[in-house]
Amino acid sequence: MANRTKGRPDHPGGRYSVPRVSEAVSMEKIVALCKRRGFIFQSSEIYGGMASVYDYGHYGALLKGNVKAEWWRSVLQERDDVVALDAAILMHPRTWEASGHLAGFTDPLVQCLGECKKRWREDHLREDRPEGELRCPQCGGELTAPRQFNLMFETHVGPVAEEGSTVYLRPETAQGIFVNFKNVLQFARKKPPFGIAQVGKAFRNEITTQSFIFRTYEFEQMEIEFFVPPAEAESWHQRWMEDRMRWYTDLGLRPDHLQLRPHGTDELSHYSSATSDIEYLFPMGWSELEGIANRGDFDLTQHAEYSGEKMDFVDPGSGERYVPHVIEPSAGADRGTLAFMVDAYDEEEVEGRERVVLRLHPRLAPVKAAVLPLVNKDGQPEKARAIYEELRRRIPAEFDTGGSIGKRYRRQDEIGTPWGVTVDHQTMEDDTVTLRDRDSLGQTRIAAGELVAELARRLHDPWTTPKLTTG
Ligand code: GAP
Repeated sequence: MANRTKGRPDHPGGRYSVPRVSEAVSMEKIVALCKRRGFIFQSSEIYGGMASVYDYGHYGALLKGNVKAEWWRSVLQERDDVVALDAAILMHPRTWEASGHLAGFTDPLVQCLGECKKRWREDHLREDRPEGELRCPQCGGELTAPRQFNLMFETHVGPVAEEGSTVYLRPETAQGIFVNFKNVLQFARKKPPFGIAQVGKAFRNEITTQSFIFRTYEFEQMEIEFFVPPAEAESWHQRWMEDRMRWYTDLGLRPDHLQLRPHGTDELSHYSSATSDIEYLFPMGWSELEGIANRGDFDLTQHAEYSGEKMDFVDPGSGERYVPHVIEPSAGADRGTLAFMVDAYDEEEVEGRERVVLRLHPRLAPVKAAVLPLVNKDGQPEKARAIYEELRRRIPAEFDTGGSIGKRYRRQDEIGTPWGVTVDHQTMEDDTVTLRDRDSLGQTRIAAGELVAELARRLHDPWTTPKLTTG
């Protein structure tokens, strides 16, 4: 949780951003591709759409699913000091008193009294004009005095909205982890240093939403609360920053499109003694992708006080009793998905024709292989379908017979499919197929019977980010 009252570090173009913008990939191009290929649509389009709420179509759902799966793989499978949790969205309302969200999760809102009546975040406007009177950036109108606006969505349990029935849609998944600390400690047989990881929806009634899925009312977080002995907090903070940066680059984000930016003291959240943001060079400028905070013992101490339950840990070896400190790598699954798409987006001319290609890491690609008959006759479609039926049981694959082969390749390039398997006249003679590489466009001939093993091998091989034409 960034400090809502002191300005947001993830405000694009704001005073905390270096306004260096990747010119080759505009957000408009990403939005158009998402719409054209069914990755992401605006919510409730048939009713005119709902601003800042988005639905993921087939390829979008698969891509975001792969981002989350890779995150799980890195925190659970590739380490042995983190356990999983899936806590409910609705929580006891006292949670939000203890966490400080009821009192402090606010943004300063000002509204235009002139023609446009638009609402603005005062702290954002102050970034360009730290002193003096503020006017509406849209129409120049006078603005109201700022009032603190809580970002939590409120709802009610039970049929009647009455006192005591108010609950909140969680604004971060983290609190579900803190309130379960004792349960996990007891059942997971872990002791600090260890972490609890969770992926789930969070909701914020943001005053200003913008930039496609970058900031929305409803989004998914991938959070780890890593509990450590107090003396080890700083070194674990450092390690998590390095681990998380590596995760993004291993999955193909260009290192020069990533930076780690420590928060200034005036930006720190109430619970944090140190936070650094992993920022990505989005089309609108450097903006937060993930926050990595040292939350100290704030949350466990607060919950102990508000619930009356002890939240400390007694080391069975030394007998030492302490409240663990917490390092929190908190990533957005939607922002991650957007960053991977932006970074992978490329345009190039091939044999006089322009192609748009998503050079996604194969493990993130929604579809790994497309099986395509060269022509729709001579037994090729039947042969291709048989190969596809075999392949799709092992890796996500598609079978496509619609349109010219060039058109089918372009469709697959746009959704980021790393390998094309073409069945041609030679296949009918010797049972070999051509394997086309999305990035190099190189073609190799291999036996159809070796396809599954070859693609499984490629999927797990270390991968080098291809050199982009644009970007
Ligand atoms: N528990 C800490 C926490 O929630 P945060 O910096 O407020 O920290 C963590 O949020 C991450 O969640 C951000 O880095 C971002 O990726 C994502 N996120 C936050 N607000 C978002 C929004 N309105 N829309 C999309 N993603 C958001």
